[in-house]
Amino acid sequence: MRDSLKLVAVISLAVAPSLFADETDPQAVFEQRLMPIFRSENPSSCVQCHLSSVDLRDYILPSSRETFLSLRDQGLIDTEQPRESKILHLIEMGDSDPDSLARRIHAKTRMMEYEAFASWIEACCQDSELRDATAAKGTSQAGPSVSNEVIRHARKDRVLDSFVRNVWSQRMRCFPCHTPSELDKNNPMHAKPIERYEEFVRQYGARMNVFRETPQETMRSLIASSRKHTGDRLPLINVREPLQSLLLLKPMAKLPALDENGVRANPSARIPVSHMGGIKLHKDDHSYKAFAAWLQDYASSVSGVYESDDALPEDNWFPTEHVIRFKELPATWPALSTAQVFVHRWDPERKAWSAEPAAFTQSIVTPRKMINGVLFALAGPEDRNRLNPTGETLQPGKVQLRVYLDRDEAIAESPAVLLNDREPDATAMIDAAFGKGFKNADMVEGAQLSIRGD
Ligand code: HEC
Ligand code: HEC
Repeated sequence: MRDSLKLVAVISLAVAPSLFADETDPQAVFEQRLMPIFRSENPSSCVQCHLSSVDLRDYILPSSRETFLSLRDQGLIDTEQPRESKILHLIEMGDSDPDSLARRIHAKTRMMEYEAFASWIEACCQDSELRDATAAKGTSQAGPSVSNEVIRHARKDRVLDSFVRNVWSQRMRCFPCHTPSELDKNNPMHAKPIERYEEFVRQYGARMNVFRETPQETMRSLIASSRKHTGDRLPLINVREPLQSLLLLKPMAKLPALDENGVRANPSARIPVSHMGGIKLHKDDHSYKAFAAWLQDYASSVSGVYESDDALPEDNWFPTEHVIRFKELPATWPALSTAQVFVHRWDPERKAWSAEPAAFTQSIVTPRKMINGVLFALAGPEDRNRLNPTGETLQPGKVQLRVYLDRDEAIAESPAVLLNDREPDATAMIDAAFGKGFKNADMVEGAQLSIRGD
């Protein structure tokens, strides 16, 4: 494929020289072929994988000479073997994308860019004065203005990985209505759910298929539908106001109201939103947190608002099926306040609880003073590639649980925030079994709690 791309470039140079005034004059090629890329309203082919932070335009300075010298000095142009220049390899990357649809969508732009840069680089390298010139001191540098770390964060594959952990992992809460691929005709237990799903599809159509066969297709369809959405309904993913995305608001919304004849109104896709599925997600529970965190991070990644490494969120939550439950929490804890629970393991070397938590959950304190939360495993930087994005298992053992109440309503302000930068409101030590599901939850009772201030 790479070779075929080069071949296209070579052929088009051979058959269409008359289109371009002088293919040997770097300045002329620059004006005719690079400037249109620079001025284009459309993103370059890099957007196939980089949602923001880097664009081919970043590599084009106002003059041909400045651009060449800057790219050469950064090692992006190979003056000995112009066709092996790193900038051409960056353009070619889209060709090896395993996502064939994305590859096809961007193929035309990619080829145009490749030909433009290849012919300009060749013209520059044939100009011996230019090839060997020294760049004037203090000239600007071509290339992206942000760090590689920021570029990495805004890559589509990173965003997809995060989608798998934070959204795709929660899809069974939307079963069976939005998960056609989880319905199994051969499973007698699924007969009723299938009927229900099919009835909804008859009524509401293909938009019931929020979750597709793979996370990749799901994310793609959510993004595509949000791009072409019209003003009369909120988008599934709202890039401007991520917390006002239908993906989040629908499952948090009640059924539409009944009129005086007992007929249900049509579901609303505007504020106030209503949902024919009823409330499936509670504000501030663990799935809400994960959805909200992903939506905010996606919106920031697409919009290119991250400018420095310390602006990047941690993005290190891995779903598990382990549930932690508390009962008999202090009567003074306000009902419906939000709490986070962190799991700390015993560190035998330091003879202390580990400084870094192994897992956490977030949930509300129920009116009966309980907390029920499904855990997310937390990975340190060295673990991120090792842990399984679709589900982690925590090993049983002695753990300390630290409970933090959201006393200043910090979570309402920024839903992804973790509260463990302060003293916990309560702690408990338990032998955690870390079984799976609510039935096998680890339960903590009032007597096991040490409350701050007691
Ligand atoms: C098929 C997907 C894909 C396309 C298209 C793509 N890139 Fe990348 N890019 C990547 C991946 C993957 C990495 C990480 C590479 C690595 O770690 O070796 C990356 C890394 C980078 C980096 C970080 C620095 C580095 O060398 O690791 C820059 C800069 C970059 N790409 C620029 C571009 C530009 C400019 C374009 C468009 C001309 C482009 N990329 C098109 C996938 C792509
Ligand atoms: C019991 C069935 C049921 C469950 C479970 C359910 N929903 Fe729905 N949902 C519906 C129905 C029916 C509609 C179509 C009518 C409407 O828009 O309310 C719908 C619509 C939606 C829409 C709007 C789709 C569009 O393009 O208009 C979104 C988004 C949505 N649901 C998200 C969710 C999420 C996320 C979950 C799980 C956390 C969930 N729903 C759980 C029944 C359900």
